[in-house]
This record gives sequence, structure tokens and C-alpha cells, in this order.
Amino acid sequence: MTTLGTPLSPSATKVMLLGSGELGKEVIIALQRLGIEVIAVDRYPNAPGHQVAHRAHVIDMTDGAALAALIERERPDLVVPEIEAIATAKLAELEAAGTITCIPTARAAQLTMNREGIRRLAAEELGLATSPYRFASSLDELKTACAEIGFPNVVKPVMSSSGKGQSKLDSAADVESAWNYAASGGRVDAGRVIVEGFIDFDYEITLLTVRAVGADGNVETRFCEPIGHKQVHGDYVESWQPQPMAPLALQRAQEIAEKVTANLGGQGVFGVELFVKGDMVWFSEVSPRPHDTGMVTMATQVQSEFELHAKAILGLPVNTALRAPGASAVIYGQLEEAAIAFEGVADALRVPGSDIRLFGKPESFARRRMGVALATAEDVETARARALEAASKVKPVSGR
Ligand SMILES: Nc1ncnc2c1ncn2[C@@H]1O[C@H](COP(=O)(O)OP(=O)(O)OP(=O)(O)O)[C@@H](O)[C@H]1O
Ligand SMILES: [Mg+2]
Repeated sequence: MTTLGTPLSPSATKVMLLGSGELGKEVIIALQRLGIEVIAVDRYPNAPGHQVAHRAHVIDMTDGAALAALIERERPDLVVPEIEAIATAKLAELEAAGTITCIPTARAAQLTMNREGIRRLAAEELGLATSPYRFASSLDELKTACAEIGFPNVVKPVMSSSGKGQSKLDSAADVESAWNYAASGGRVDAGRVIVEGFIDFDYEITLLTVRAVGADGNVETRFCEPIGHKQVHGDYVESWQPQPMAPLALQRAQEIAEKVTANLGGQGVFGVELFVKGDMVWFSEVSPRPHDTGMVTMATQVQSEFELHAKAILGLPVNTALRAPGASAVIYGQLEEAAIAFEGVADALRVPGSDIRLFGKPESFARRRMGVALATAEDVETARARALEAASKVKPVSGR
């Protein structure tokens, strides 16, 4: 697709985002800059991406019939999943019928929404190094699986994200509570978990990998500089770029990312999550879309991961170059309230090299990600300190 139309006219190039959170919002802004007509879909009204799109729809995206009806009505040129909890089987059906083009592919969306799909592909088909793992569909199966994998290990619902329902187990005494917690935290199918051997990594990275059309018309694979990040309870709190890596570890990371993204296919940005210890690299998981830890690229790269995604899916060339070392720090809601307000934004912006994004989410929860502080500096350590300082200046207060 190299001809771009005029929005709201018969020539319009139309893109539908399935999921319109903070990541979708930035993809939409990047698409808007190219004159794309954007349709934003989410499960609740006034989601961040709804606020910057041409049209906004609220549907249950796990409802295949509702999804198909909306696609039929809007007839987008591209359907872009931004979240995992979607009726991906319906997307696969519509893609197979030639009704939609799904980014990057419906199969990628299907495989990555379930930890079992992507883990079996990576470890069993592609032969990539991963943590040892088992699957379990009952407490008894989990007991057996934990005995086989050993301790410490990590138990996660196969359908979950952002650390929901996930626990680290130190002994057999932790198995039952982990099972109950997983059952409460998963989505769609609460009854199945993966247990993974705990990897004692030195650090973990997201390797943003872009599949975009090159000058010869073929899809090429490009890599951004590795992004280091810190997770608390399975949710990212800080990220930075570039994460320094031994040359062999970086080469292995890129080889793994190339293999898994080539198999998933299509065009766009992928966030390949990897654990690193010395020269050893383990594949953890992959998002077939921009990654939350990649928000740092809004400060650090010539083209952010959102611009890269927008360009790659439209068949345009991309530039993955780093502009400056930088970091991001998450701003949480801290309050349980609708329509909160933010004090201290001016103080945050007085931190040298800093910038702030507030997502405009209509409702705050204590651990809901409401914004992010960004910073650049001469080096990553300084950038991290600046991003943390800027984030700490932003104070959510009651909006009443
Ligand atoms: N096998 C493991 N060994 C060591 N640490 C792990 C393991 N699995 C997960 N973790 C830690 O927990 C974090 C979250 O795990 P994972 O990425 O699988 O879950 P997630 O719910 O998809 O999180 P997110 O949606 O934020 O990416 C990892 O980034 C890592 O820090
Ligand atoms: Mg993850």
C-alpha cells in the first residue's frame, strides 16, 4: 500500500485500531500525521485513542460477531490489534476470506494472545532457548508440573498480560495459592496456566524489531537499540535505551528476534522480550505490536516505535536510528477515582531533558498507568534519574 488517500473522502486510507490505550493513541497520532482516516475501538468510552481518532466505537472486542459487524460497517484497509484480548479466531476467519488485512497477521495475533501458542512455537518449532516450562489445567496438574520444573518458578495464566495472576513460587507450599491467584487474574479462559523455571538473568530487554518494505519491495527486518527495563509485579515501571550488551549477546538476541518475527510474518513493529545472562539469551515472549517499555523511544529515537509501526504497516520505509540515550518512568494513578487531575507537571518539565505524556484515561486506579515521564541525557544512568525525578513530581489529585 503506497498510495495514501485523503481522510473522510472516497480516496481515504482507513485504519482500524482494536484497542485504543496509550500505545494505540500514539500509533493513531502517527497515522493522523500521514492523513490516514483512523477508527479507534475500545471496550470503554473516551479511551485515550478514541480522543484523537476520526471515529470512536465502544464494543466488546472478544465478541466475534460484534467485531465482524463493525468491520463490515467501517471497511478498513488495515485492522491493527493493539491489545491481546480480541476475538482473534474471527480475525483469522476474516483474513482468510480476504475481508481484512490484519497487522501483522491474524496468526500472529492468535499465537501471542495465548502463552501456550507462542511458547510452543518458539521452543518446539523454532528451537529457541526459553525457560523450561509445563502447562497445567488443574491444581493437581500444577503440582506435578511444579515438581518437574522445580523451584523457584513462575506461574502465569496462559491468557493474561501486565503480570495479572502471575506469581513466583519458592516451594511446594506456594502452589495452591498460585493456582487460586492465577484463576482470578486470567482472562477469557481462567483454567490454564504455564509454569516456567525461574531464569536468574543479569538483565532483561525488549528488542524492538521492525518488518518493513525495503527499496527492492521485499520485507526487511530492522532492529532498534535494545531497551532495558525494570518490572514490578510483572508490570513495567522504568525503561531505558540503549541497554549495553556484550556483542555476542546482542547478536544472539537479534537472531532470536529475526527468527520469531519472520515466522509470525507481516509488517510492523514487534516487541521481543528476552532475558540475558552474560552471553546467554532466552526468549520470553513477543508482542506483534509496539511495546509498553518502548514508550522511551518517543524521547530516544529519530522515529518512535509508534511512527515505525505506522510507517511499516503502510508499506513505507523506516529509520530505527537512536537519537540520544534516554529513559521512561511510569506515572501511576495512585487514586481510585474518575477524572482525577495532575499537579506538578510544570515542576516535572523543569527537570533537564524531560518530557511528560498524560494519557487522558477517564478513570484512575491506584496501579493504573496514567502517564509516563521521558528524559534524555548524555548517558542512560542520568536519563533514568531524570525520568524518575520528573515522574515523582507529577501528583495525581482528586478531580472533584
Ligand atoms: N521464567 C521467568 N524467570 C524470571 N523472571 C520472569 C520469568 N517469567 C517472567 N518473569 C518476570 O516477570 C515479568 C513479566 O512476565 P511476562 O512478560 O511473561 O508477563 P506479562 O504479564 O506478559 O507482562 P507484560 O504484559 O508486562 O509483558 C518479566 O518481564 C520478568 O521480569
Ligand atoms: Mg512481558
